[in-house]
Amino acid sequence: MMKQQLQVLFSLSLLFILLSHCSRISAQGPAASPNAGPVADAPAPAPPGPTNVTKILEKSGNFNLLIRLMKTTQVDTQLYSQLNDSYSKLTILAPTDAAFSKLKPGSLNSLSESQKDQLLQFHFIPDFLTISNFQTLSNPVRTQAGDQFEFPLNITTTGNSVNITTGLVNTSISGTVYSDNQLAVYQIDSVLQPYGIFAPKPLPPSPAPAPEKAKNKKKASDDSPVAAAKSAAGSVRCDISRNGLFSIIIAVVFAAVLFL
Ligand SMILES: *[C@@H]1O[C@H](CO)[C@@H](O)[C@H](O)[C@H]1NC(C)=O
Ligand SMILES: *[C@@H]1O[C@H](CO)[C@@H](O)[C@H](O)[C@H]1NC(C)=O
Ligand SMILES: *[C@@H]1O[C@H](CO)[C@@H](O)[C@H](O)[C@H]1NC(C)=O
Ligand SMILES: *[C@@H]1O[C@H](CO)[C@@H](O)[C@H](O)[C@H]1NC(C)=O
Ligand SMILES: *[C@@H]1O[C@H](CO)[C@@H](O)[C@H](O)[C@H]1NC(C)=O
Repeated sequence: MMKQQLQVLFSLSLLFILLSHCSRISAQGPAASPNAGPVADAPAPAPPGPTNVTKILEKSGNFNLLIRLMKTTQVDTQLYSQLNDSYSKLTILAPTDAAFSKLKPGSLNSLSESQKDQLLQFHFIPDFLTISNFQTLSNPVRTQAGDQFEFPLNITTTGNSVNITTGLVNTSISGTVYSDNQLAVYQIDSVLQPYGIFAPKPLPPSPAPAPEKAKNKKKASDDSPVAAAKSAAGSVRCDISRNGLFSIIIAVVFAAVLFL
């Protein structure tokens, strides 16, 4: 009786360990294009190559300091390959030369290479936004600098005016530089200074768990046990970390000792 209960308990925990390390392959597939219509099957014309952000900014003549920073950090080539993926959408808030000259002298030079990179990524929103799309954003807005605690960006709109605040800097969009269906570039007249670089805040008491992992776990536990078991037997991607493997080995050894 006791032994049976232990066996059931052991099987359940083994199943749990496996499920918590496995995710379905189907979740890895590319997101369907929201714009894909009935004509999506028609052969597309030969792509002219990725959009060159540097070229767009050069044409305007107003963004020499931004271009220089993008080149020294190699963010220009990063954007070039990012835009080579036609599913990837991007909105750039581009500070003018006048915006850069408003910064405290030397403040850009005092930044490390990775801070310069973060500063640029903070001006990139990984989505294609028209001016009216800005109304639909919820704050804080996700940027390519990541972490919204150290890098918060809030955007509010009134009519056609789009106000942007980082908490340290208030500015608004003062012009459209470029827009197609993948990339939008807007002019702003201040550099967006994030807390994380210009006034680091103390960390919150309990940092939230990595959102990516939490999502996968949730997905697995949302499935019915039967479906989950099927998927465990069928097409699953098992991503067993060293820790996961270690706990399975411990469980097996533990079980062997119990059953002997
Ligand atoms: C983008 O355009 C700039 C300016 O025309 C040019 O110097 C650069 O080589 C281009 N980048 C790529 C990756 O083609
Ligand atoms: C763009 O993507 C294609 C297909 O993935 C690849 O063959 C090509 O080298 C890429 N071009 C650039 C400039 O990254
Ligand atoms: C946007 O900023 C302008 C001045 O910078 C201000 O008058 C206006 O009230 C702001 N709008 C919002 C929605 O914050
Ligand atoms: C940004 O918006 C969030 C959510 O509305 C708010 O909690 C936060 O105080 C805002 N930050 C700034 C700098 O306006
Ligand atoms: C930004 O705007 C908010 C609300 O209008 C104001 O409280 C704050 O002092 C401004 N911050 C700066 C740095 O101008």
